[in-house]
Amino acid sequence: MSAVTYELLEDIGIITVNNPPVNALSHAVRDGLQKAVQTAQTDDSKAILILCEGKTFIAGADISEFGQPPKAPLLPDVMTTIEQSQKPVVAALHGTALGGGFEIALSCHYRCAVPSAKVGLPEIKLGLLPGAGGTQRAPRLAGVKNALDLMISGNPIGANTAKDYGLIDHVLDAADLKQSALSYVKELLANGKGPRMTSALTVETSDLEDTFFDDYKKSIAKKTKNQIAHNHIVDCIEASIKLPFEDGMKKERACFLECRTSSQSKALRHIFFAERQARKVEAIPKETPIRDIQRVGVIGGGLMGCGIAMNFANAGIPVTLLEINQDALDKGLKGLEKIYQGAVKKGKSTQEAADKCLSLITGTTHYDDFSDVDLVIEAVFESMDVKKQVFGKLDEVCKDGAILASNTSYLDINEIAQATKRPQDVIGLHFFSPAHIMKLLEIVQADKTADDVVATSMKMAAQIKKNPVLAKVCYGFIGNRMLRQYLREVQICLLEGALPQQIDKAMMDWGMAMGPLMVADMAGLDISYKARQELTLEQKGDPRSYRIADVLVEAGRLGQKTNAGYYAYDPETRQRTEDPAVVEIIERVAADLNVKRAPLSDDEIRTRLLLTLINEGYKILEEGIAQRASDIDVVYCFGYGFPSYRGGPMFQAEEMGLDKVLDQINAYKETLGAQYWTASSLLEDLAAKAKEQGAA
Ligand code: 3HC
Repeated sequence: MSAVTYELLEDIGIITVNNPPVNALSHAVRDGLQKAVQTAQTDDSKAILILCEGKTFIAGADISEFGQPPKAPLLPDVMTTIEQSQKPVVAALHGTALGGGFEIALSCHYRCAVPSAKVGLPEIKLGLLPGAGGTQRAPRLAGVKNALDLMISGNPIGANTAKDYGLIDHVLDAADLKQSALSYVKELLANGKGPRMTSALTVETSDLEDTFFDDYKKSIAKKTKNQIAHNHIVDCIEASIKLPFEDGMKKERACFLECRTSSQSKALRHIFFAERQARKVEAIPKETPIRDIQRVGVIGGGLMGCGIAMNFANAGIPVTLLEINQDALDKGLKGLEKIYQGAVKKGKSTQEAADKCLSLITGTTHYDDFSDVDLVIEAVFESMDVKKQVFGKLDEVCKDGAILASNTSYLDINEIAQATKRPQDVIGLHFFSPAHIMKLLEIVQADKTADDVVATSMKMAAQIKKNPVLAKVCYGFIGNRMLRQYLREVQICLLEGALPQQIDKAMMDWGMAMGPLMVADMAGLDISYKARQELTLEQKGDPRSYRIADVLVEAGRLGQKTNAGYYAYDPETRQRTEDPAVVEIIERVAADLNVKRAPLSDDEIRTRLLLTLINEGYKILEEGIAQRASDIDVVYCFGYGFPSYRGGPMFQAEEMGLDKVLDQINAYKETLGAQYWTASSLLEDLAAKAKEQGAA
């Protein structure tokens, strides 16, 4: 089956793209499109219609081809062929016309779309800019501000909004795309409409202040720190005003190529595919049946339980929320109301949608009300005894085939499953706080968890718009196991000479969403302190990894909630400031533990923290806790504020070179000791292989 076909239907030449799954602009599609438009110039057609088979119009360039040498015809040349057609060319859009796909439409002379179609220029999400005329044509049609917002946000807009912007000409009212698009083309011909080149238009500038582009750059500077594509987009759009179309196109091409070869775009493309790969479970056959999830139970009306419940309500799935007593339940339900009301106030939801979601959540204090749920997720206190009691109770009341899930962040799901007579139905579903916002969902398969329970959980994750990653059981699974080592190294850096503000700044300058010690203050230092109190001295391990944190808590510094933690906080404004009392505590603990403090550079801090993550990541892979390295990157980018434009810790390791990573870890083993700096044997093997390949 050819990726592009051409047929003459009466006097209209119809070009149909058929390149599943999303009609991406692979070489075959570019070539086919160009040839079909050229063919149509010489036949009896009076107009040309471009449309697509399958679920969508062209959803963009073929991202998987980006690492390869470009093969003619290049996309901008295909656009030129289309735009210079002697016969009017009409694009008929459905599904998601994105990136290069929408740019194809912009180079056509007319655009129509079914009402459900979405259009957008999401290249920025891949560290790119529209590289096939989008930066030059979109402002000519939609004006500078609309075009900029479309490209800088990367978010698609609906057909009606696109029509209001001037990006499409006509919203089709029929469900049959081909027939109604043909009627539109005939109407154009009947009205004597001919070719109409977007490139020949001038950009409307009357509403722009002189400082508009500088101001726009300033307004996005904080959010787009360290990234190159955003400012290039602004510059290209400025060029659409200041330069003739052909020169604007040259500017766009140069910027696009710079972005495409950047490590940032490589990282973001890696994350795009990693996210999709993570949804696939290698060991489970595709045809594994899925259990039906019609109703969900959630135990725990605290922040986490309520956040989990919201995910299901937002997806239209009814939830029964259980709390231990009426007071706690009322508090939870009130909290939920407040969150939904807040969303309405901020314009993120309508009153009607918020009411509908709330109506899907029913409170209870009786386990018996779980008798008809298909999935129940507990989010109770992190204690094995409590969890076992809860699962014993669930075993009594839940129907056969119900999935019993724990939201534990660390505990052994195998042990929890033993509290039931149906370990095959028990799984870990680890949400991240705030659970209605954070995209990551760790799905933890215990030894006896049935395949269909895993497959159902993966599908459920898609329904509630989460990015799932499969993990096996170990202390902390993927994310928190790595975090534990990262935080241990943070503590040691503090002892050895760094200060909280230096560590936080070093990591945030590099791109982490927040510094580790700010996060600790926000979460509350007492939580991990209490967890440590449950451990024996031996289990607690090296005092260097927790003594400062202990002393802070014992001094009443529990974090933001007491206006004092690693920082001081203004009780009124919540403003964070450095606190000499913390320096004094750090110095005292260092002296007690015989650690001599000396300045640490930002680079050293960053390297140590990143290598800690990487080494633990390889240990996790080595033990088969994660399916693949890219899954670990998904965990870190979607759950732990790791900058996606750096691709995740495992991607960083590949970028640095595994042999260099290993050499540095071994160097730290010499200077900092073997206790924490023994390289993963998988890393050693892979580094040796990489070295061999490099030498060959
Ligand atoms: N290139 C190559 N493969 C792509 C692709 C693309 N542009 N878009 C999607 N795919 C693949 C996915 O990897 C996935 O493959 P898999 O089944 O093997 O895992 C498959 O298509 C289906 O994708 P999704 O699972 O994401 O399907 P959805 O239905 O959930 O979403 C979509 C469809 C909205 C089109 C979404 O895939 C998407 O957002 N794609 C990326 C769109 C994009 O970024 N376009 C711009 C590309 S850059 C560009 O055009 C540059 C130009 O300016 C020169």
